Amino acid sequence: MTFSVLPIRQLPPDSTNWTALHNFAALRGQLRVSLTPYCNIKCWFCHNEGDTPPDEQRNHAVRPKELCGEHYTQIIAALVQAGMKRIYFTGGEPLTSPIAAEVLTGLTERAPDVFYTLITNGLTVKKKRDMLTQARLDKIKVSLHYFSDATFAQIAKTMLPIGKVLEGIDVARELVPEVGLNTLLQKQNEHEIVPILEYALERGLSVQFIELVDTGFNEEDRFSAVSAAGIISYLRTLTSEERVEIAGTGQGRRVFRIDGVEIDVIERGLGRHHVGQCGTCALKPNCIEGFWALRLDHSGGLQPCILRSDTRLNVLPLLDDMDQLTEAVARHVDAFTEGVL
Ligand SMILES: C[S@@+](CC[C@H](N)C(=O)[O-])C[C@H]1O[C@@H](n2cnc3c(N)ncnc32)[C@H](O)[C@@H]1O
Repeated sequence: MTFSVLPIRQLPPDSTNWTALHNFAALRGQLRVSLTPYCNIKCWFCHNEGDTPPDEQRNHAVRPKELCGEHYTQIIAALVQAGMKRIYFTGGEPLTSPIAAEVLTGLTERAPDVFYTLITNGLTVKKKRDMLTQARLDKIKVSLHYFSDATFAQIAKTMLPIGKVLEGIDVARELVPEVGLNTLLQKQNEHEIVPILEYALERGLSVQFIELVDTGFNEEDRFSAVSAAGIISYLRTLTSEERVEIAGTGQGRRVFRIDGVEIDVIERGLGRHHVGQCGTCALKPNCIEGFWALRLDHSGGLQPCILRSDTRLNVLPLLDDMDQLTEAVARHVDAFTEGVL
């Protein structure tokens, strides 16, 4: 029997190597799109996807806004065409951005394997109901690190009632096929972790329990971090359905299933994936996340590592040519992966 094979195409020596970007996408790598660094609350731990956290914006400058709504929609469409499949809208609080409506209702690249997820603190979901209906998102993840007014005030430095977040979760459930919760484990909410879990299970909401990611900004309060060991032991009393998922990017996660609901725990002990650039990185001993996301910010930066702003690619000069922009991103990911940035 003979097999026909495609001829090997000779590529010019300077051509873009797309393999690293395609591998990253295939391994569940995320495109995290920050619509704004500003937020309507000020969680003490917030890493703000690499920009100055809301709680520090009085004392430290925030990157200037450079991208308009159309830039965002074009860049997202181009990167989805280039292979990215998991798009997360984040911030700051994405729903406070004046361009949120234009971006979220302007997503053009729709395919069954492309997922658009909004990450929000939930506070304005009810107010934005009509816009979010039009946006046709696949998932809304609401941060729920608190379950009482007192804990909400302590963690997020706000006088708003927790009821407003819970109301946002209820509305989100009417709008999208899937709603999940993010809960960062910390001393301030240790007493509310089980009530949050019970609340989620009663409503069939998935939860991701997260350990603190340290950044220079939140290091003063590092003592507030709580290990995932306690919630893992507790989940084992509720179910024997447990597996470990190590995707090939970022951190491993322990996944429990309780009555069909997935409860994930991002656990430091499961390790994280590093690439070539991490090999000689002085911050590697403290790195918790590994390489798992490309973060696009409102200043036109695309950053593969939250701890290393020197790895940010400036896409502003390429906004007029999306082919060149995606090639530049592919080359950047290739170089970061190889360790030759
Ligand atoms: C930066 S927030 C922005 C989106 C939105 N404002 C919210 O509250 O969900 C995105 C996600 O990052 C998580 N996050 C922020 N700082 C973190 C840290 N230091 N360690 C781990 N996760 C963190 C938040 O809990 C949230 O789920």
